[in-house]
Amino acid sequence: MNPLLASRGLSAGYGGTTVVWDVDIDVHEGEVVALLGANGAGKTTTLLTLSGDHPASDGEVHLFGQPTKAPLSVRASRGLAMVPEDRSVFSGLTVRENLRVSRSDQDQALELFPELVPLIDRKAGLLSGGEQQILSLARALSRNPRLLLADELSLGLAPKIVSRLIEAVSDAAVNRGVGVLLVEQHARQALRVADRVMVMRRGRIVLNLTAEEVGKDLSLLEDTYLTG
Ligand SMILES: Nc1ncnc2c1ncn2[C@@H]1O[C@H](COP(=O)(O)OP(=O)(O)O)[C@@H](O)[C@H]1O
Ligand SMILES: [Mg+2]
Repeated sequence: MNPLLASRGLSAGYGGTTVVWDVDIDVHEGEVVALLGANGAGKTTTLLTLSGDHPASDGEVHLFGQPTKAPLSVRASRGLAMVPEDRSVFSGLTVRENLRVSRSDQDQALELFPELVPLIDRKAGLLSGGEQQILSLARALSRNPRLLLADELSLGLAPKIVSRLIEAVSDAAVNRGVGVLLVEQHARQALRVADRVMVMRRGRIVLNLTAEEVGKDLSLLEDTYLTG
């Protein structure tokens, strides 16, 4: 089976300085790939480049079997959804309006995230951080993407919300065949649902293991990425 997303030798940077080198990533249908790494390792730059929101300086991206250099809007129309690091809700709009402007299927969003029902007419800016992140994920998943790129969904949130978000991502993969590339600081949370784990260090992929290979022993993983 061809991967939904494949990069080969992907490099990217800012203002002529390369910060991500030679990244090979494959994400298959129904697969959750966790991308771990210390702060500044290059995870966000990798996701932005894979999504078309940031230019590659070298290498290739194949999306749904086709090489692409298209911008994010075009990749999104083909079935890529991105939940970026900064919560991407419109704070002056209500939950309902947020779903509408992102052309999400509102019924599906509320079915996936019933906790949004009582909040539907509340301004997104008045929601808690966790609720805003649930709304971001609801917007992404209720557009029926084939591929989801999610950057630090759990950043700064309470453990209960973190589990809820990770569980929703896992459901999308298991029940709807969505391929997921999940950037996550918490290795333990990511490993609960990941099929494969990649660790990035100083702009390069230094480990690429199946969940089975990692097993229950996180020490290898944590030693690798906590040392920056
Ligand atoms: N907009 C930017 N301009 C210049 N350098 C940046 C920018 N964003 C990130 N960087 C640098 O690129 C490197 C990788 O950052 P990033 O991809 O955000 O890592 P991570 O998401 O793993 O924390 C860091 O050294 C960071 O300082
Ligand atoms: Mg980041």
